[in-house]
Amino acid sequence: MEFKLISKLDKKYQVEIIPCFEDCEIFKYGDVLNKLKKQKLFEGKKGTHYLFNKNDADEIFQIVFMGLGKKSELTYEYFYKSVVSVFEEMKTNLVGDVLFYPIECTNFDDRNMLKAIILACNACCYKFDKYITKKSENSKFNIYIYANKNEDLDELLNIKDAINLTRDLVNEPSNFLTPEEFGNRCIEQVKDLNIDIDVYDENWIKQNSLKALYEVGKASVNKPRFIVMKYFGGNEKDKVISFVGKGLTYDSGGYSIKSSDGMVTMKCDMAGAASVLSLMTLVAKQNLRVNIFGVIPTCENMINGNGFKPGDVIGSLSGKTIEVISTDAEGRLALADGVYYAAKNLNSDLIIDIATLTGACGIALGTKYAAVIDNDENIFDELNNASKNTVDSIWRLPADKEYLSLLKSDVADYKNIGGRYGGTITAGLFVGEFVLNKPWAHIDIAYVAWNDFSTKILPKKGATGAIVELLYNFCKNNENA
Ligand code: BES
Ligand code: MN
Ligand code: ZN
Repeated sequence: MEFKLISKLDKKYQVEIIPCFEDCEIFKYGDVLNKLKKQKLFEGKKGTHYLFNKNDADEIFQIVFMGLGKKSELTYEYFYKSVVSVFEEMKTNLVGDVLFYPIECTNFDDRNMLKAIILACNACCYKFDKYITKKSENSKFNIYIYANKNEDLDELLNIKDAINLTRDLVNEPSNFLTPEEFGNRCIEQVKDLNIDIDVYDENWIKQNSLKALYEVGKASVNKPRFIVMKYFGGNEKDKVISFVGKGLTYDSGGYSIKSSDGMVTMKCDMAGAASVLSLMTLVAKQNLRVNIFGVIPTCENMINGNGFKPGDVIGSLSGKTIEVISTDAEGRLALADGVYYAAKNLNSDLIIDIATLTGACGIALGTKYAAVIDNDENIFDELNNASKNTVDSIWRLPADKEYLSLLKSDVADYKNIGGRYGGTITAGLFVGEFVLNKPWAHIDIAYVAWNDFSTKILPKKGATGAIVELLYNFCKNNENA
């Protein structure tokens, strides 16, 4: 499937998709629409569409009117979802090309209209069929978008590719995607880009006292890695932003073992890391004028004779000690070393960590919103701004320091869990204790990175690629800042 922008209609298409508002005329097939309206068969209402076949010489074409409701009320998200629902239906018997007609919209611009079409069709067609021996055949077709404007298609395609890269990595089973392999994938992905990369091994992690990360990864035969990527496309004076991604290639829970049901999807526990890698590649491809680091502590949380145990007291890169109450609260331990490294060794002016951190996040916010915990209101506003005209949704939780008392330990500086209530907040606050008071935000993507639920935006099953676009917009909005 390829996307093409065209400014002339000089070929035939199997399907023509025509967006229609309730309260506007359309410039092609207006006569048909008027008849439909008269018969009340289709009126352009939100959530409706109408398909009819058209005879042209000896060929038959399909025309789909896509209802979008009132022009002034259309949002980006609704437009995206409309494209999904029409394209999901059409894609099953496509053999020829598809043409989208443009809309002019009051609430978002042409670039975002094109982006919604591209990302929505891409989400409908995304497949992870690498390990299926008899692959279903991909029908070959192109998607043409009729747009007079000279928009930057390359950027939109790069965004699409970055989202797909995240999906591919998150869908990859952990017996293939070990921490070592994650390091290799990072090297492979950045090799032709203006990105420096270091992949440090277990010895380095030990020698450099990343003790919390080391403890989490200790029981696995697949040894941990600490990955640092650097892209400096800005000026020397511009601020340095570090993105730290939780990279648990598998989370069994360790001795605080998960139920077998809870374990099945835990290959997704490196989604934060995958989005950081994808972000780095996207920012570098677009040559954004920003200075950013991508930091990925990656390991596997397993069980064996030398694993860390509930009740153990462990160290960390910061020097602070931690009483391990649950070995299943491992992500915050790996992140503690990751964000501290970013704060101290990379001289970051701003730190953003992204992690599939707590099941409680799904209880608090459901499966559409990622949670944000931060120590700086402006950062949240910036992140929220970056989510505009995307299908990434975030919601701020109170980072009330009063809750830090829940992390008090009798035998160490901290406990690694804060009890039953406000689990997403205490997890976030825990990570925030290791950023040396630098401006910081934590994004908990536990329930948006993976889709088991039909309520979410596509793909229907497996990795979603959520938050990548938000992070990219955040960088774009911070050019030369
Ligand atoms: N990786 C999990 C969080 C998670 C849960 C991600 C469901 C995706 C879907 C994390 O390491 C974890 O196990 N968190 C525990 C924390 C608890 C022990 C305080 C949880 O949420 O149960
Ligand atoms: Mn866990
Ligand atoms: Zn985890």
